[in-house]
Amino acid sequence: MPDPKPFPLDAWYAAAWSHEIGRDLAARTVCGKDIVLYRRTDGRVAALEDACWHRLLPLSLGRLEGDQVVCGYHGLVFNGDGRCTFMPAQKTINPSACVHAYPVAERHRLVWLWPGDPALADPATIPDFHWNDGTEWVGEGGTFYGLRCDWRLVVDNLMDLTHETYVHAGSIGHDAILESPFEVTHTDRTATVTRWMIDIEPPPFWAGLLGKPGRVDRWQIIHFQAPGVIAGDVGVAPTGTGAPQGDRSQGVNGCFLAALTPETETSCHYHWNFVRNFRRDDDALTRAIQKGHVNEGKGVYDQDHVVLEAQQRAIDRNPRMPFYNLNIDAGALWARRMIDRMLEAERGGRHVPSQAAE
Ligand code: FES
Ligand SMILES: [Fe+2]
Repeated sequence: MPDPKPFPLDAWYAAAWSHEIGRDLAARTVCGKDIVLYRRTDGRVAALEDACWHRLLPLSLGRLEGDQVVCGYHGLVFNGDGRCTFMPAQKTINPSACVHAYPVAERHRLVWLWPGDPALADPATIPDFHWNDGTEWVGEGGTFYGLRCDWRLVVDNLMDLTHETYVHAGSIGHDAILESPFEVTHTDRTATVTRWMIDIEPPPFWAGLLGKPGRVDRWQIIHFQAPGVIAGDVGVAPTGTGAPQGDRSQGVNGCFLAALTPETETSCHYHWNFVRNFRRDDDALTRAIQKGHVNEGKGVYDQDHVVLEAQQRAIDRNPRMPFYNLNIDAGALWARRMIDRMLEAERGGRHVPSQAAE
């Protein structure tokens, strides 16, 4: 029997940026489920199963008429709740004619979707992603749709930033990341990795943003919310100005954001942003930071993209080889344990074999 799918279904996942969902039909696959999204005339987003009740043609190949979707094959019409409201050449409508309607909610400039049991979907449990609101923090991100790797590889990637030294040498990488101690704390649904690098030469990216000579204290405080949201509070301040004690006023502070959404077992959607709370009106800086992350293969996240997909290819070719864990993986292991616990809860307490248990 194939392994059960490695993603919890009873959770909110980012399905799109709000600005991507309008009066066109947008197809997405989330947790192996094909979904069509659109915006109703009153502005609310609808998310329906992307397979017509009649002969399963994807509804995303049809068209939007008012608040309803018209199937592109034989013209069945479905409203935003998934109920069929029209059948060609017959007056009575089979009451069972409906497609699944997924709970959706917009928050923090993203559309969040609940692929699991709708009765459990409480918008109050949408992850905190307020840094992405575009108010106190600014930045323009994007999405790697269909990134060809298990979404948990991206969790590993972001929960352990020692990889910066090797993958991102020349921009944010620095040997001090390897030498500085870090601390991992956790609650039931969150894990936090905190690392301070005291009195170091700033790496080029941060030296440019700080715009002051001299050595710095650098922080990386990475916060994971199960199952797939990560916010990394990162920055530098001149050494001796009190940043480790809580006064960051002389420094510069950014936050990297990731809302990770499984697409299939071996692919995912990686909604990312890098926001900052300084020089907020500087649009040129916003564009430069965006380009620093994704830029036709040359950005920091492009570098991760190459590593993540190569890693997945190696896993596919060596499916039974385990992962071994180092101290640096402590944050990622907590994140994976939380994901495993969610999976176990959905499977009635059955144990989930996991790389986190190695
Ligand atoms: S497949 Fe949709 S109406 Fe026939
Ligand atoms: Fe990276």
